[in-house]
Formats: sequence, C-alpha cells, structure tokens
Amino acid sequence: MSETRRTVLITGASAGIGEAFAHHAAARSYNVVLVARRLNRLDELAASLADAHGIDAHVFAVDLSEPGAPESIVDFTDDLGIPIDVLINNAGLSTSTPFTRTEWSDLSGQIQIMMTAPTELSHRLIPPMIERGWGRIINVSSLAALLPPTRGSLYTPIKRYLFDFSQSLHNEVHGRGVNVTALCPGLTHTEFHEVMGTQTEADKIPGFMWGNTSEVVNAGWNAVMAGNPICVPRAVDKAVAALMHPVPLRLHPRIVSMFDPFRD
Ligand SMILES: NC(=O)c1ccc[n+]([C@@H]2O[C@H](COP(=O)([O-])OP(=O)(O)OC[C@H]3O[C@@H](n4cnc5c(N)ncnc54)[C@H](OP(=O)(O)O)[C@@H]3O)[C@@H](O)[C@H]2O)c1
Repeated sequence: MSETRRTVLITGASAGIGEAFAHHAAARSYNVVLVARRLNRLDELAASLADAHGIDAHVFAVDLSEPGAPESIVDFTDDLGIPIDVLINNAGLSTSTPFTRTEWSDLSGQIQIMMTAPTELSHRLIPPMIERGWGRIINVSSLAALLPPTRGSLYTPIKRYLFDFSQSLHNEVHGRGVNVTALCPGLTHTEFHEVMGTQTEADKIPGFMWGNTSEVVNAGWNAVMAGNPICVPRAVDKAVAALMHPVPLRLHPRIVSMFDPFRD
C-alpha cells in the first residue's frame, strides 16, 4: 500500500517546527523525506516514524547554505523515484548581530537557506505537481514578515520575501491543483533562539506570547490543504499583525487577484 501514499519533503526536519511537521505528516500516513544537516537526528526520527506509522521515511543530510543543495535534494528523490506531493520549506535561522557586523558568509548563507533554496525547490518541484494535478507547498515565513523590520537584520526582509513569494505563487498555480501557503508563526518553543544565541532574552518574553510547535503545524497543514495562502496560527499573533497592518490580511489575496497582470 505504501506506494500509493503521498510524500512530504520537509527541510529543517531535525528539530522544532520541521520535526513536528514530520510527526504530523506521518501520523496522517504520508511518506516523508527528511532534510537537514544533522544526519543522526534525521536517522533517529525516520526510524521512529516508520516504526510508529508504517510509512516510508527517507533522510537526506545536506547543508542548505550550499548553492547546489536544492538540486541535490531533487536528484536524490528522482533517483529513488519518489514524487514529492507536499513541500515544506521550513529550514531557517537568524543571526543575533546586525547587518554591518555580520560576516558576508553568514548573510549569504541565510539568503541561500531561507530565500534561494525554498524558491529553487518550489521551481523544481511544482511542474510535476501540476502534471499530477495535486500539490501543496508551505513556506515557513514568520510573524516578523508582518511587523516593522528590526534593526539591520536580514531575517525580516527574508521572511517578508517568503510571505510575498508564497502568495504570488499561489495566485499562479492554485487553479491547477497546487496550493501554496505562507505560514507565519509568532514566538514558538523550539531550538531557534538557542541556536541564535538569544535564549536568555527570549526567556524574558511573557509566556502568553509563546506557542508550541503542534499549534503551528496543525494550523499550517490545515491552511495549505484548504487553499489558504496566508496562515497566522495563533490569535495573539493575529492581533499583533492586525495592529501593525493597515489592510486586513484576509483581504490581501482578493486585492492581489484584482490586479493580476498575467493571463494564463
Ligand atoms: N521558533 C520561532 O519562534 C519561530 C517563529 C517564526 C518563524 N520561525 C521559523 O520556523 C522555521 C523553523 O525554525 P524552528 O523554530 O523550528 O528552529 P530550530 O528548532 O532551530 O530548527 C531549525 C531547523 O533548520 C535546520 N537548518 C538550519 N540551518 C540549516 C542548513 N544550513 N542546512 C539545512 N538545514 C538547516 C536545522 O537543522 P540542522 O541544524 O540539523 O541542519 C533545524 O532542523 C525557521 O524558518 C524559522 O525562521 C520560527
């Protein structure tokens, strides 16, 4: 039966939101392809998901800051003959230093991991989704995309790119069976702030501002399956976004479609 199952490819599956997406997909009988750098974690997760849910779980260890990474991922799934039905562009990180005090290699790495890789993976994987008449893509953006940019960091501009890119792509492909969603979580308990080196500061933020990975994943999964191009998972984050944004988010897709310059 497993050959008839759909397959989800998740980047950044070794921790946090990506790992939670892997559990969520496997529990719904999707096969998974897990991508990140830490092979030991991916192997452990794949074995436990296969064991618990009887699905096929493949792992591919790669550094997404390398320009050849997206192509190597698609070569890997092509070689195994695995069509990707759901793509979750989730891998991400932030620096704790502002633009002028961050090494170019770190900045270009962020661009590669969070902008170029999601864009290239979408570009490579959407045509076969359209051919099969069904596909789903979640780009994990952030509530930050809806807030004024913080001092000098590339994080907000990159997440805003993912936010706009997702909607633009959704407008192009949703009529052909492919839904694209920009998932915009607010503060979420993961390893993100520890990796960034700001866990002490993060710990001072009041508890009600924090959500957990299952809330984020449930909301994002339901949104992309329903064809909603924007998903802000938690009520508190929706309120923050609404306070900062002059046009209600739910009207964005409608406004954009009124000015669509392209005709298929
Ligand atoms: N946590 C929050 O408060 C929050 C809020 C809004 C949005 N987000 C977004 O949610 C997404 C997931 O973050 P998280 O909170 O789950 O953080 P996390 O727990 O630190 O997980 C980050 C994931 O990204 C992977 N990753 C990082 N650099 C990579 C690279 N060079 N190549 C391949 N994989 C890489 C990590 O795997 P390896 O280290 O094994 O490579 C890990 O699996 C990110 O895009 C983040 O911006 C998080």
